[in-house]
Amino acid sequence: MENINWSDLTFGYMKTDCNVRCYYRDGKWSDLEISDSEYLNLHIAATCLHYGQESFEGLKAFKGKDGKVRIFRMRENALRMLSSSHGIMMAELPVELFEKAVLEAVRRNIRFVPPYESGASLYIRPLMLGTSAQVGVNPSKEYTFIVFVTPVGPYFKEGFKPTPYAILRGYDRAAPQGTGTIKVGGNYAASLVAGDIAHKKGYSAVLYLDSKEKKFVDECGPANFFGIKNNTYITPESHSILPSITNKSLMELAKEIGLKVERRPVPVEELATFEEAGACGTAAVISPVSRIDDLDENKSYVYSKDGQPGPVCVKLYNKLRAIQYGDEEDRYGWITIV
Ligand code: PLP
Ligand code: COI
Repeated sequence: MENINWSDLTFGYMKTDCNVRCYYRDGKWSDLEISDSEYLNLHIAATCLHYGQESFEGLKAFKGKDGKVRIFRMRENALRMLSSSHGIMMAELPVELFEKAVLEAVRRNIRFVPPYESGASLYIRPLMLGTSAQVGVNPSKEYTFIVFVTPVGPYFKEGFKPTPYAILRGYDRAAPQGTGTIKVGGNYAASLVAGDIAHKKGYSAVLYLDSKEKKFVDECGPANFFGIKNNTYITPESHSILPSITNKSLMELAKEIGLKVERRPVPVEELATFEEAGACGTAAVISPVSRIDDLDENKSYVYSKDGQPGPVCVKLYNKLRAIQYGDEEDRYGWITIV
């Protein structure tokens, strides 16, 4: 612990003091339990292991100059986890219980919240698992909810530097009417092969197109997508993308700094018209896009030639970070102080 180099953290796992758990049995959630184990004892026929009954969330806590620890938009994550539960028939976790567990996990690991100056944060990972034995394809009767935390640096090692993305038409992460709008493990398993191909070719991530027609832009493997042109923030609307809380926040901040905001289908050809582009998410924050290579069509869309993020990305990034770290007043009620 004494040896953590806060400024050099990557987006990885580090053991902390404890995690928080609760269990759904006989139609009720238990009280929270604190565990210092990093392991689970699971039935070999648990539905999470065979049939993908698993959902997760990702949010962050930030230490301010004032020493206070702030959690960003926790309620939105609680609500999205509810929608994941509806999507794959898991137990509903009350919003208040989600919030209580997150707060407890952060409080008990408060010494792992990176210092303000490091620019790092404490990543909070809630997850829910179907735990009872089913060999037929049926929802579990019992569930486990866990919140663990781990200090993290940037998701893409370049941090707030533009990096390239690839379009690979041979792969989809979610079906047109499938589970793309909820945060379930299966979506990420489905993205691993394409992600690996992209990484090996030097791209940060895949930019997925809509899986039905490949005519519209969907999102990146681990983040939403936005483009900037004519003083407008444009982000895809689709039945197969995750409703990103960061993106929702950026739409507000974009309006605040005088941009127009459009959330609508974005045809692939429109990529040629953007002045700037970015990936956004809790882990990715804003990861500016330097270039998108459409590998099947042999086309490239270039947004940064000098290795620097564009001016709108910079403004949005600074504004978001300022609210998260408490440098700027929280006019939207997004922050919970721990
Ligand atoms: N899209 C996908 C597929 C993600 O996994 C994430 C990360 O949570 C996001 C978008 C960004 O969502 P948020 O801003 O809520 O973290
Ligand atoms: C997040 O941004 O919190 C995520 O869950 C993305 C994940 C793929 C690391």
